[in-house]
Amino acid sequence: MVNIAILGFGTVGSGVAEVMEENRGRIALAAGEEISVKTIVDVRDFPDSPFRDRLTRDFSAVERDPDISVVVETIGGVGVAYDFTKRSILAGKSVVTSNKELVAVHGLELLALAKEKNVNYLFEASVGGGIPIIRPITQCLAANEIDEIYGILNGTTNYILTRMIGEGCPFDDVLRDAQRLGYAEADPSADVKGYDAARKICILADLCFGKNVDPAAISVEGIGGIDLTDVERAGELGYRIKLLGRAYRLPDGRVTAYVAPHLIEKDKLIAGVKGVMNGIVVHGNALGECMFYGAGAGKRPTASAVAADVIDAVKHRERRRMVGWEPSEPGFLADVRDMAVRWYVRFEGAADESSLEPVKTLAHGGERVFVTGRLTARELDAALGDAKVLARFRIL
Ligand code: HSE
Repeated sequence: MVNIAILGFGTVGSGVAEVMEENRGRIALAAGEEISVKTIVDVRDFPDSPFRDRLTRDFSAVERDPDISVVVETIGGVGVAYDFTKRSILAGKSVVTSNKELVAVHGLELLALAKEKNVNYLFEASVGGGIPIIRPITQCLAANEIDEIYGILNGTTNYILTRMIGEGCPFDDVLRDAQRLGYAEADPSADVKGYDAARKICILADLCFGKNVDPAAISVEGIGGIDLTDVERAGELGYRIKLLGRAYRLPDGRVTAYVAPHLIEKDKLIAGVKGVMNGIVVHGNALGECMFYGAGAGKRPTASAVAADVIDAVKHRERRRMVGWEPSEPGFLADVRDMAVRWYVRFEGAADESSLEPVKTLAHGGERVFVTGRLTARELDAALGDAKVLARFRIL
């Protein structure tokens, strides 16, 4: 019998306890021994929870307990979660987490510490909720040079966009539903402004390209600038608008990573990813293209990925998983504004239309809508000159 602890009994933490209990037999079979949730740490009381007898407010009870070999961190954020994770690793315990902010910001350090202490720090649930993506990258695709990865990485914004577009629902109502369903972050602006997706694309870039990509250093644009007019115009031109996190390697070895709304041709598989679902596309030099699809947020899908990591940590108690990346050197990250891409641009007034190399155009009253040739953001700005820009999005 292996005992584990759960730190943080919110949506994900309580989901992990439920799944570990409900699938106890199946999990024991997979791990080779029974796994029991011994202690749960939270500052709140849960008098109606079937796990109430295991709750404590005192993390040191876990830290000092030699019977607990795996700690699940589902607190979130980079404050207490960082402290407790470090202390758990220093106490010789493996840590499993769904905390993308912590992995994106301090993953390099925590993985190095785990290596030093010969324990595991596993984070399958940090990207794509229940979708297996971390382990496929680090194991199944390990023989590939990955040159690009992109995806719909935030369930809340995809859910909001899907319902706004499909049902014409107001933004605030849909956001409230997303919070009620347990998809949104404690502070939903992290979802809406793209920061959650930024943390996730940085983790994916770290793993795919082997060097640290700092979420504070990448360009991040959320869904706030998407107007229903653009949804309609994009539709007329044969595209859907989706918020993507994207990272790719340049021929000179540098990497660019960013988050922004994109227009995607309607018949591409990823354009059909709706609601809270996530989709992640990986390009490998041996594999070609592969897409991962599934529930990107929510209590049980996320708990599914956390519980699988618990099983893995139990199975690898005496061995370390070789997961990690190196620090990056200055200049490793290339500025996305210097990358030439095709653009959708909606504007009023005069622009240098020949420089836009228009591929498709629409005119609606005084408004002009162009799909441009490949231009950098600076070239696009120069061509638009004094025109009043109403919207501009990259095209995948
Ligand atoms: N708030 C996140 C999302 C939760 O909506 O995708 C899963 O990481």
